[in-house]
Parts: sequence; structure tokens; C-alpha cells
Amino acid sequence: MEIAINNKRYTVEAGSDETLLNVLRNHLGMTGSKYGCGEGACGACKVLIDGVAAPSCITTIGSLAGKNITTIEGIAEEVLHPVQKSFLETDVFQCAYCASGMVIAAVSLLKKNEKPSEREIIQGMQGNICRCGTYPRIVRAIQLAANQKNGHGQTN
Ligand code: FES
Repeated sequence: MEIAINNKRYTVEAGSDETLLNVLRNHLGMTGSKYGCGEGACGACKVLIDGVAAPSCITTIGSLAGKNITTIEGIAEEVLHPVQKSFLETDVFQCAYCASGMVIAAVSLLKKNEKPSEREIIQGMQGNICRCGTYPRIVRAIQLAANQKNGHGQTN
């Protein structure tokens, strides 16, 4: 099957019902997306599909014809993505198992809503679980990224 990931096309030896997460991790060596629940509930495996965050553990590669996938490996260009920077500046993570899924979900949220309220951030991030309970810092990091994007803070 052919699949477009991070602006590159890959041909993978996998059936159409294979999950995207399995293909990323075990066929292509992209291990940034994590396996948590395996049923679409924790967000650790999220990737962007045509710019929208989705759990790769319940997405079959057969459903991805014509779609562009962006994984955590492809989220940054020459420098870190502003969301990655804000998460680092806010010192968000403890164990960081949820990190890539959180960053992907935050990027997707800010694409839809450039200046979300605290409540909108909490609602928008509900599909992502942090087992260390760093939620207040995650909210602050997303607020920081939104402010930087809107020109109210440092961007580099
Ligand atoms: Fe995919 Fe939990 S591993 S949502």
C-alpha cells in the first residue's frame, strides 16, 4: 500500500486493515507515536490526518487513500514547532509518554481555534490522557503557543 507521511510517499507491505500506528512504529520505524490504550481513548498515538488530530491506533491504512499524515516526526520544520517550544518552555512533561499525542492534539486545536479560551482548551484536549496529571501545565503551554502565534510573545 502507498501512504503519504510527512510529505513523503511510502510503500508498505501491509494489509489495508493494518492500523496506521502499527505501520508507523513497526514498518517505518517512526516510534514517536505511542501505543497506550489501543482503542482510541488515550490520545498517545495521535497523528494529524489532513491537519486534524486522530488516533492512529484505530485508523486502518486502507482508509487513508489520498490523505496526508503528519506525525510528531514531521511536525517541526527547520526549527521546533511553536507548540513544541511552548511545551518545553512551560516544562510540561514528567514521564512524557503522552507528549507526542498532546503536541499533535494542541497543533490541531490551534489550527481550528487560534485563540482558545481555557475552557475550549480543556474541551479540545479531552481525548488525550496524561497519566502524570500535568494538565494545568498543558493548558498554560497551549495558551503560550496561542499568544506567540498571535504576536503577543516571543516567537524564537
Ligand atoms: Fe490510540 Fe490510546 S493508543 S488512543
